[in-house]
Amino acid sequence: MVGVNKKPMKIKEVLDAYGGFVRYFGTTELMQNMVAYVDPKKPLQILACCGGGDQSLTFLGHCQKGTEVYAFDLNPAQLFVLACKAVYLEDTKLKVFDPTFDRISRLHLGRIRKLPRNVQKITKLVNLRGNKNIDLKEDFREKFGFEIDSGLFDFKPQSLHWVKDRRFMAAIRKQLHHLNFIREDVLYISDWFAKGSLDVIYLSDIPLHNAIPYYLERLNTLILRLKPGGLVMGNTEDLNELDRNPTIMEILLNYQDLFGLKLVGQRKKSLCLRRNQ
Ligand SMILES: C[S@@+](CC[C@H](N)C(=O)[O-])C[C@H]1O[C@@H](n2cnc3c(N)ncnc32)[C@H](O)[C@@H]1O
Repeated sequence: MVGVNKKPMKIKEVLDAYGGFVRYFGTTELMQNMVAYVDPKKPLQILACCGGGDQSLTFLGHCQKGTEVYAFDLNPAQLFVLACKAVYLEDTKLKVFDPTFDRISRLHLGRIRKLPRNVQKITKLVNLRGNKNIDLKEDFREKFGFEIDSGLFDFKPQSLHWVKDRRFMAAIRKQLHHLNFIREDVLYISDWFAKGSLDVIYLSDIPLHNAIPYYLERLNTLILRLKPGGLVMGNTEDLNELDRNPTIMEILLNYQDLFGLKLVGQRKKSLCLRRNQ
């Protein structure tokens, strides 16, 4: 592992150590669009936001033998999900890749739980100016509430292009020893790699909560981990939605010159930028 400063974990170590609440069990991103930017003929060094892990597995199957994928996530439960999916793929008789949360959590009893969908009922409204309670009709109270957290995003086979492709699955299987795991925040993941050591950084739709100069500096340090000509890719969010945190990819797109990047392509929410040579 050239250019890696610290020792990442392997599948078995993650299975032994990690677990917790899972929010992402399957991706909603169109990975077919994303890997279309990546040269399948060269062994690459790829840093990938983990989430439900489908993205890292897709890079592993798409790329040439010898490609190293470093999946990172703040949430250790997400890394655990990827390790479980990797083990599931080890089965050479597998015809369809269709991992269900229930099967995997039963296999590893007590290790992971679904992040619950948190919905609160409205029982009364308060008129703030008048400092008065407004009684709600029973019918209204039963019908309406508000969502605090939307719970688990489950695996949907239709969102991954290779779920029935046995050759692609076999390609991933052969490369599983090149799958690495890192529990780290995106703003500090650059500490793990030497300058100019990565070919691809995939950032999914990780948000940046505050575009303060210190965070932009951290992102710049991360971009400098790319080789000249290397790619950074990920997603934008709904551009019509106001007053939300931008994704890191949107920040990189917006300040391309500052980061020494150029737009390669944008398909719907998928976005790819290249580090200047
Ligand atoms: C941003 S979410 C998006 C998932 C995606 N929309 C999908 O379809 O899979 C992907 C992962 O990023 C992780 N994440 C969020 N903020 C992070 C941060 N600051 N550093 C590292 N990982 C982070 C989350 O824990 C989650 O597992």
